[in-house]
Amino acid sequence: MPVGAPREAVCDKNTEQTGSPAHHNCPVSRATWAFAGRLRPKRAAVPACPYRCICIHTLSCCIQMTLPGSPFLAYQGADLKLDDVSLRDLAHEHGSPLYVYSRRSMLAALAPYQRALVGRPHLVCYAVKANSNLAVLQVFAKAGCGFDIVSEGELARVLAAGGEPGKVVFSGVGKTRSEIKMALEAGVRCFNVESTAELEVISAVATQVGQTAKVSLRVNPDVDAGTHPYISTGLKGNKFGVAHELALSTYKRAATLPGIKVVGIDCHIGSQITEVSPYLDALDRVLDLVEAIELAGIPIHHMDLGGGLGITYTDETPPTADALIGALLAKIDARGHGHRELVFEPGRSLVGNAGVMLTEVLFLKPGEQKNFCIVDAGMNDLMRPALYEAYMGIVNTQTRAGDTSQWDVVGPVCESGDWLGRDRDLNVQAGDVLAVLSAGAYGMTMASNYNTRGRAAELMVDGDQVWVVREREAVADLFKLEKLLPN
Ligand code: LLP
Repeated sequence: MPVGAPREAVCDKNTEQTGSPAHHNCPVSRATWAFAGRLRPKRAAVPACPYRCICIHTLSCCIQMTLPGSPFLAYQGADLKLDDVSLRDLAHEHGSPLYVYSRRSMLAALAPYQRALVGRPHLVCYAVKANSNLAVLQVFAKAGCGFDIVSEGELARVLAAGGEPGKVVFSGVGKTRSEIKMALEAGVRCFNVESTAELEVISAVATQVGQTAKVSLRVNPDVDAGTHPYISTGLKGNKFGVAHELALSTYKRAATLPGIKVVGIDCHIGSQITEVSPYLDALDRVLDLVEAIELAGIPIHHMDLGGGLGITYTDETPPTADALIGALLAKIDARGHGHRELVFEPGRSLVGNAGVMLTEVLFLKPGEQKNFCIVDAGMNDLMRPALYEAYMGIVNTQTRAGDTSQWDVVGPVCESGDWLGRDRDLNVQAGDVLAVLSAGAYGMTMASNYNTRGRAAELMVDGDQVWVVREREAVADLFKLEKLLPN
């Protein structure tokens, strides 16, 4: 039976009557959402709803309450809203594909990081790669954040958005000389260095420009973050960081270089991590190193524990940021390191569920083996499903009465890998606007112009206010840097 078809009873407090997405606390909702999310649902895993609730919008009361991104993203009646703004209206007014972010939701995601670190020297450096829109950076800059960057382009964005260079950490395995120079001139807080070769180059560039570069070494603790192989970074086989066994000798080398001042240690083990234990394992390894490095006479001022905290796309239950940090602080204190400044580099957990991507249904193409729901957004607009087979929720921005059918939601790009969701139970018609959920992180930043498709527009909402924070890319702009041959 397709998800969305009535399975229980009709909720006496259905959403249409109350207009509220949180009309009661249905404890089954998360499970029901999880069921909706699985490609091959396990029927047995779905408990009966104690409220025997099903709204007349075909199970939507359960689904509605627990969308990733709630409470900022929720149905009000039949209409999906981000904050107080109807997403379907936004798509009609601004066109699609369209990214929409909620400022409130981003700030709410930042709050537990700040709360957990109150009273401690700390800096939350938002990882720009997750979503580098200037307005997004501006929100975090105003909230006091620093930034984790990986290129001169990201540094330029941070500066353009009003970020303080003195709160920027520069990560990445392949920094060029010109990037290093630009970062030194801008006055970044620290380089997170990933190899001895890089250390030597940073020292040389710094000496050339008459500066001393502040560095921490990114150490690779060789722990399994239990995440997708493409986004796991803390294992020996990854290109990232200085191997644990080599870390002490590399620090000793750093201490001898004329253009280098060691200020900290850094570690980032991967992304979309949904457990506390890999962080604790990595922390133990980092603390072992800190003790050894300081014994060798090299003071370590700050510990940067990276980013990587996961979000709920479907049924994941990652720890909250304050629970994670609480567990880390307990270990840090127990081992006597509570005085050190702490740096974190969260990306996805600050913006992922603060955004959606809207796309219009162009055609329905039912088939013998598969039904295709062809939408106007493709893998160039949102690459995660094609690249990682990532699951991202997809819902109609306007619920429809009646049964659902199963659809592969696919884009217009000429690749079989161009899909946004497979086997999705949707009640959908051509012209409907679908929302791809959890698209605030690694959505727009990974978009491309493949098939000469202009990139989407981006909006920011707050309450009932709406701002265009990036115009839709015009086709003429896509080849304006290209030249015809003279003959
Ligand atoms: N710090 C460093 C050094 C990183 O490499 C990353 C992410 C972060 C912080 C932020 O991690 P987060 O908190 O966002 O997990 N494109 C992939 C994710 C790649 C993550 C790369 N590094 C995806 O769409 O899942």
